[in-house]
Amino acid sequence: MIQRILTLFCLGGLLSLSPLSAEANVLEENNCGSCHRLSSEDTDKTFSGPDLYYAGNKFQPEWLREFLKEPTVVRPAGFITDPGFLQGASENLDPHPSFPDEKANVLTKSLLGLKISEQTPVVRNALSKGQRAKIKYQFERTFGCISCHQSLNLAGKVRGGISGPSLVNAGNRLQADWIASWLQKPETYMSKSRMPLYKMESDTQNLFVQFLMTLKKENIK
Ligand code: HEC
Ligand code: HEC
Repeated sequence: MIQRILTLFCLGGLLSLSPLSAEANVLEENNCGSCHRLSSEDTDKTFSGPDLYYAGNKFQPEWLREFLKEPTVVRPAGFITDPGFLQGASENLDPHPSFPDEKANVLTKSLLGLKISEQTPVVRNALSKGQRAKIKYQFERTFGCISCHQSLNLAGKVRGGISGPSLVNAGNRLQADWIASWLQKPETYMSKSRMPLYKMESDTQNLFVQFLMTLKKENIK
């Protein structure tokens, strides 16, 4: 009996010493936690990089792997921290740490393990030509998404504003379900986003998801 209590006591001690998940521990060991929030509970600090505690909900595995091997710039104007402090344009910052193949795989696996509540899967149908034209118009004109986000025009040229993350390869980078969830409830991921909160029909939202998933790096000319 005493032994059991002791064991429980020790286990409890161990648990309270390591509040991070196994996944987050691998990332901590690699210093990712110095710039990225790896747990939603870690609210008392400002980070110089975007939150990763829901990376497993947000990113596609292949994109993560590639990014960690050969980092690309996602936010051309630089990352802006929560209280609104611009870290400076990415070109003036040190390049993101990069890793050899095997390490990138291990880190990717850990990132994919960082999840918050499960998302409801979105229904995904290919866009008809008419739907595509309509939603593209809404992206550019009705909602003006393009004033803050880079995207691709018909000729495959990159165009658009840079105050939001680039969406030129959203279809390689983001999970469709996550995009839907972001458009529905951005506050799940960020207490105060700088992106306007749009009132839109769920049909329109769904078309935006399909549209963003068609933006791929293979189409950049
Ligand atoms: C010195 C600070 C720093 C360190 C250390 C660091 N990062 Fe980053 N990371 C950043 C910044 C800043 C960005 C945003 C880059 C951009 O948007 O172009 C970023 C972007 C990312 C992204 C893309 C996130 C998104 O929302 O676009 C991933 C994934 C990532 N880092 C993973 C890692 C991992 C894994 C580690 C540890 C092995 C790590 N980072 C270490 C600063 C850092
Ligand atoms: C006024 C600028 C602005 C407009 C307009 C805007 N966004 Fe954003 N968007 C942002 C910013 C900034 C972020 C990053 C979150 C943050 O820092 O608040 C973001 C994030 C996103 C993300 C997540 C990208 C990522 O990698 O984290 C998606 C998807 C997105 N926006 C889609 C859209 C769509 C679709 C529209 C139009 C319906 C739109 N945005 C309009 C500024 C904008």
